[in-house]
Amino acid sequence: MKHLSLFLLVLFVCGASKRPATVGFAQVGAESAWRTAETESIKSEAQKRGINLKFSDAQGKQENQIRAVRSFIAQGVDAIILAPVVETGWAPVLQEAKRAKIPVVLVDRGIKGDESLYATLIASDFVEEGRMAADWLAKKVDAKAGIVELQGTPGSAPALDRKKGFEQGISKRPGMKIIASQSGDFRRSQGKEVMEALIKKHGNEITAVYAHNDDMALGAIQAIEESGRKPGTDVTVVSIDGIKDAFHAMIAGKLNCTVECNPLLGPMAFDAVEKALTGQKLPKRTVVQDKVFDQSNAKETLPSRMY
Ligand code: AHR
Repeated sequence: MKHLSLFLLVLFVCGASKRPATVGFAQVGAESAWRTAETESIKSEAQKRGINLKFSDAQGKQENQIRAVRSFIAQGVDAIILAPVVETGWAPVLQEAKRAKIPVVLVDRGIKGDESLYATLIASDFVEEGRMAADWLAKKVDAKAGIVELQGTPGSAPALDRKKGFEQGISKRPGMKIIASQSGDFRRSQGKEVMEALIKKHGNEITAVYAHNDDMALGAIQAIEESGRKPGTDVTVVSIDGIKDAFHAMIAGKLNCTVECNPLLGPMAFDAVEKALTGQKLPKRTVVQDKVFDQSNAKETLPSRMY
């Protein structure tokens, strides 16, 4: 019923031609299971609401995303949903959208600069996620660890903020030291490669891994196993996202903890599009709430995981 009334509203907003709303979604890529779940959530919600969705996969490159946004503007879409790969460099293209009176809804990642260039941002608090990971790890290892940090995509909001939050979390714990910190670009294969190289360099000095997402943690787990050590026991592994594979790894005792970051943003994103198109007030930022999961609750939680 809710979706039917929204559909009618969208028809109304789109005026005399009575066409359904057309929304462009400029997605980062498909680097992780989290990202795929977000794409699916936006696509299925658009379908439920009878919205004509134009989808673009930027394959992790900002220039492709900018090109996609320009093409959406040229096609005269009613609104744009953007998950910005990095935080900076958006002003020119978002000014073009503003001049064309096309509202832009940011999902999952924020940008730096002029807030008037977008209608709203719907995202998790990445700094808080990093802090939660640090607090969980500190308790687990009694505030003593030689930590490898696997960072996300350089310049992206989650990589910058999850690093910041984690560093804040360990700052008052002198026994916890980051001995190496490198990007694995949020990818499982790169998480493994980076971890292999760091194991060669630092060996048993490494007692914990903090990965900015589950996919990199799962890659690191493979590298640890291949080096002859036991992930989850010899090396404590903590990450962020809460994908199903992370729950399987926790149940198998190989991953210790995952901090959830909810990718199912489709309903909230299209609610925001609806409000923007009907001139309703929107908060500049909506924070998506996340929880921490570990081996103590992984098994009972897995059946209810949606991604
Ligand atoms: O922006 C959210 C992050 O991007 C997710 O943690 C990661 O898996 C993704 O690729």
